[in-house]
Amino acid sequence: MKLSRVRRKERIGERFVLLELEESGIAAQAKPGQFVMVRPFQEVFDPLLARPFAVLRTQGDSFTLLFEVTGRGTALLARAEPGDVLSVLGPLGRGFSLDASSGVLIAGGRGIVPLVFLALEFLKRTIPSLFFVGVRERKELALLRVLEGIPEVFWSCEEKVAGGFCGTVLDLVRRHLDAVFKSDAKVYACGPEGMLRKLKEIFSGREEKVEVSLETRMGCGFGVCLGCAVPKKGGGYWHVCSDGPVFKLSEVML
Ligand SMILES: Cc1cc2nc3c(=O)[nH]c(=O)nc-3n(C[C@H](O)[C@H](O)[C@H](O)COP(=O)(O)OP(=O)(O)OC[C@H]3O[C@@H](n4cnc5c(N)ncnc54)[C@H](O)[C@@H]3O)c2cc1C
Ligand code: FES
Repeated sequence: MKLSRVRRKERIGERFVLLELEESGIAAQAKPGQFVMVRPFQEVFDPLLARPFAVLRTQGDSFTLLFEVTGRGTALLARAEPGDVLSVLGPLGRGFSLDASSGVLIAGGRGIVPLVFLALEFLKRTIPSLFFVGVRERKELALLRVLEGIPEVFWSCEEKVAGGFCGTVLDLVRRHLDAVFKSDAKVYACGPEGMLRKLKEIFSGREEKVEVSLETRMGCGFGVCLGCAVPKKGGGYWHVCSDGPVFKLSEVML
């Protein structure tokens, strides 16, 4: 675990917190789709286990996290203020492949986080991409702020909101399927399990070209506790922390 100082904190809407953390090693090495394990405060072992979070972006000697407050660990982490020091381990795991000629990015809710990092990397490499993002309620629309500077963004909200598509992000993707299928794009997705399962219907026969980032409960984050197992297609298990969190849709049973 490394010690990492909070440089900046921002609340995004009612449920999300953005933290910029100083740690030059992680900032230099992190790749889109990789994650870090974070423990709220130095030398406080409550909660005992660190929590996994994807990297949103890196800048100079710092990197940024964006997380949803869902339970005890994230509520404690949300209390961190600039100047506080957190324990951080990473970057960990296998990220997204970056060898696409173009990308279609599909995010549900907090699944936006690793895909923003990917979209920024594509922008740097001049790889064209389309970014589809969906939120459930208007309260979550604040998340769209983190897409600043990313071109070709399409958004949906399941509540009716002026200016946006009303429905799930996959309803929105279905409307653009001709464009998606015509291009030789790789598809990258992160979001709730139900959303990832439906991708199998939409991209049936094309699973090799679809990469999904999975979330599981994690104990260690680096392949030791075996707490993050998910079934492999064809039998056996993957460990999300060390084999993933990014997998081809063709590799996993969802
Ligand atoms: C590789 C990876 C990357 C992640 N990146 C992000 C991120 O960028 N932003 C973000 O907001 N969250 C992310 N998560 C999810 C985040 O780790 C959990 O929300 C967090 O651990 C919850 O901790 P807690 O103590 O607040 O909640 P707990 O008290 O542990 O649980 C509260 C609620 O959250 C659910 N929950 C807990 N952990 C998970 C999980 N891993 N997946 C789904 N549901 C869970 C529980 O079932 C419960 O309903 C990521 C998870 C993984 C595995
Ligand atoms: S979290 Fe411990 S093995 Fe994956």
